[in-house]
Amino acid sequence: MLAVYAQTIDRDEPLGGLVVGDRPDPEPPDGWAIVTVKAATLNHHDLWSLRGQGLRAEQLPMILGTDAAGLDEDGNEVIVHSVISSDDWRGDETLDPRRSLLSELHPGALAEKVAVPRRNVIPKPPELSFEHAACLPTAWLTAYRMLFTRGGVVPGMTVLVQGAGGGVATALTVLGSAAGARIWVTSRSEQKREHALALGAEQAFEPGVRLPERVDVAMETVGMATWQHSVRSLKPGGTIVVCGSTSGDASPAELTRIFFLQLSVVGSTMGTRDELGRLVRFCIERDVRPAIHATMPLTDARDGFRALERGDVVGKIVLLP
Ligand SMILES: NC(=O)c1ccc[n+]([C@@H]2O[C@H](COP(=O)([O-])OP(=O)(O)OC[C@H]3O[C@@H](n4cnc5c(N)ncnc54)[C@H](OP(=O)(O)O)[C@@H]3O)[C@@H](O)[C@H]2O)c1
Repeated sequence: MLAVYAQTIDRDEPLGGLVVGDRPDPEPPDGWAIVTVKAATLNHHDLWSLRGQGLRAEQLPMILGTDAAGLDEDGNEVIVHSVISSDDWRGDETLDPRRSLLSELHPGALAEKVAVPRRNVIPKPPELSFEHAACLPTAWLTAYRMLFTRGGVVPGMTVLVQGAGGGVATALTVLGSAAGARIWVTSRSEQKREHALALGAEQAFEPGVRLPERVDVAMETVGMATWQHSVRSLKPGGTIVVCGSTSGDASPAELTRIFFLQLSVVGSTMGTRDELGRLVRFCIERDVRPAIHATMPLTDARDGFRALERGDVVGKIVLLP
């Protein structure tokens, strides 16, 4: 089958190890389902994998991708939950120390077919296209958990979203504003700031500027480049929710401000299968849909990876096998 995979790992030139070519069809163990992929999407995670973060040379070649929607063996339309927990794990899958994401231990979703444990597929409602559904399992699920589970965001709160153009950041903007929060964003690009306003943000700022007032919660996916601004923008008692550090680890950590203003720093990673189900319902009930930057055939995956690497995207890149 056609697949997009990591052939080698290159920390500096990640796309050097990327191949679009043939891989064997999945041979799943008992209890696993094969999903015929109708749409898959790219995430920054795929670039990290090509850089060797979370993926070791011994595991290569590895099919990339953590997001897919498609058809199960019975022809049902399904969305793939990409957090693979151990068979004996019960409860919140993201807390299983032995969990992995698709493409870390098991071949990923950027292919014509993907195998996952049967419990890792949930029904795709007809109201959602395959393209929109495939945006949800990673970036959108992560944003959902950051806002509502880990961040405790409720209507009327002011939430700062750093790096507005990214997949997670656009999801934070759309979901947060649909839930009645006041979303303020920063982005390096004027075009991305305008796009964020169109997606529901109330105000958009250049990175690092002094905000009109302090915010209740700051959402961090960027790390080093924006961390200090996030800490300094919080009200006393406010919360930073962090799920990533695209620009590197935060330095300095701003510990004095964190303890003196009694700030909370909360980590967040992916989401549970139940949260994915609630996210799907939320999208239908509130009639919100993921922002898509571009849709292209799986064969053109390299173009999508290039755009993601340049940081040249607003929303998600969808690949169609
Ligand atoms: N923990 C988890 O479960 C989880 C899940 C999903 C993602 N993540 C992590 O979250 C991060 C974002 O993921 P994504 O898929 O949304 O990535 P993405 O679509 O590539 O977006 C990255 C965004 O970060 C901003 N950015 C990058 N470098 C920057 C810099 N030097 N200065 C300022 N802003 C910068 C950009 O915003 P502007 O261009 O608008 O400024 C860009 O749009 C990644 O590190 C990813 O690994 C973690």
